[in-house]
Amino acid sequence: EQNIFILGIESSCDDTAASVIHNGKILSNVIANQKIHEEYGGVVPELASRAHQQNIVPVVAQALAKANITKDKLHAVAFTRGPGLMGSLLVGTSFAKSLAYGLNIPLIDVNHMQAHILAHYIEEEGFNKPPFPFLAMTISGGHTQIVRVNSYFDMTVIGETIDDAVGEAFDKSGKILGLGYPAGPEIDKRAKLGNPKAFKFTKPKVDGLNFSFSGLKTAILYFVQNETKKNPRFIEDNLNDICASIQYTIIGILIDKLKTASKQTGIKHIAIGGGVSANSGIRQALKDGEQKFGWTTYVPKFEFTTDNAAMIAIVGYLKYLEGDFSKQTVTASARLKI
Ligand code: KG4
Ligand code: ZN
Repeated sequence: EQNIFILGIESSCDDTAASVIHNGKILSNVIANQKIHEEYGGVVPELASRAHQQNIVPVVAQALAKANITKDKLHAVAFTRGPGLMGSLLVGTSFAKSLAYGLNIPLIDVNHMQAHILAHYIEEEGFNKPPFPFLAMTISGGHTQIVRVNSYFDMTVIGETIDDAVGEAFDKSGKILGLGYPAGPEIDKRAKLGNPKAFKFTKPKVDGLNFSFSGLKTAILYFVQNETKKNPRFIEDNLNDICASIQYTIIGILIDKLKTASKQTGIKHIAIGGGVSANSGIRQALKDGEQKFGWTTYVPKFEFTTDNAAMIAIVGYLKYLEGDFSKQTVTASARLKI
């Protein structure tokens, strides 16, 4: 357990990523973003899969080069098995299987949703690791989940979205307002300049700890259409206030569910991950939760919140220590559960 080098590979959606981890420390974390999807306003699966094929070899080579090691130093190859887009997953899966086979080292399959959570266990100065048990909320363009984490590999999903992910709620609202894709970061920026209580959107009623965001998007659409009939410049005149009000509503939904989850489980350690955890409003709301509800909150370093391979590598390392390896017959799984 002294000098373990593991290569992690991530290709579940539109980012081709590779990372080398040495014990718990990340040596390299390389990502090739696929710009191509921007002009379509969303990820096009077939284009994503083709771009992964072009990117995977150079991205892995770069990850090894930046870590300053050659592939014969690797102890194992970890890869994202799912969930995600099948065509995208197949590229990383096939590549990882071939590489591990060629090097005659263990192959380790990783669940992408577990990896978002276990990213908190990457050794990183200034970041604390949440103690078990804790609640993890994963919020991104593809996922919205609250998970009770009892130990590294004992996790239970206690709430999730029944329709759109929270990132989609940001992106689709932004589209209605004529903002570019993805709209989350711009809504965040404008929200800082607007009044969060200028416009009121009703929160969806969803049982238990589950989420629903598709109704909110429709409510925003009708609201904007209606107001624009009265004032054709309604969006331009009120853009910052609209953004602030949308963001305020979304954060309210997330925090309400976290409050309920914390009450139900009695757990006050709360960790977030996924691209939407970059949102300044949600970060502030979590900080406020420390004062208001006695929470201790954990937000990973930004590069480990969006899709990345470092989180795959840390899971690879943890599984390597347990001797939890995969067979060469392992297959990608688009709907893999936690
Ligand atoms: O994790 P991620 O990079 O990719 C996946 O979806 O897996 O998350 C991207 C999502 C997009 O929906 C984007 O609009 C949203 O995260 N996002 C934000 C912010 N930064 C990124 N949403 C709100 N505020 C932000 N600052
Ligand atoms: Zn993700």
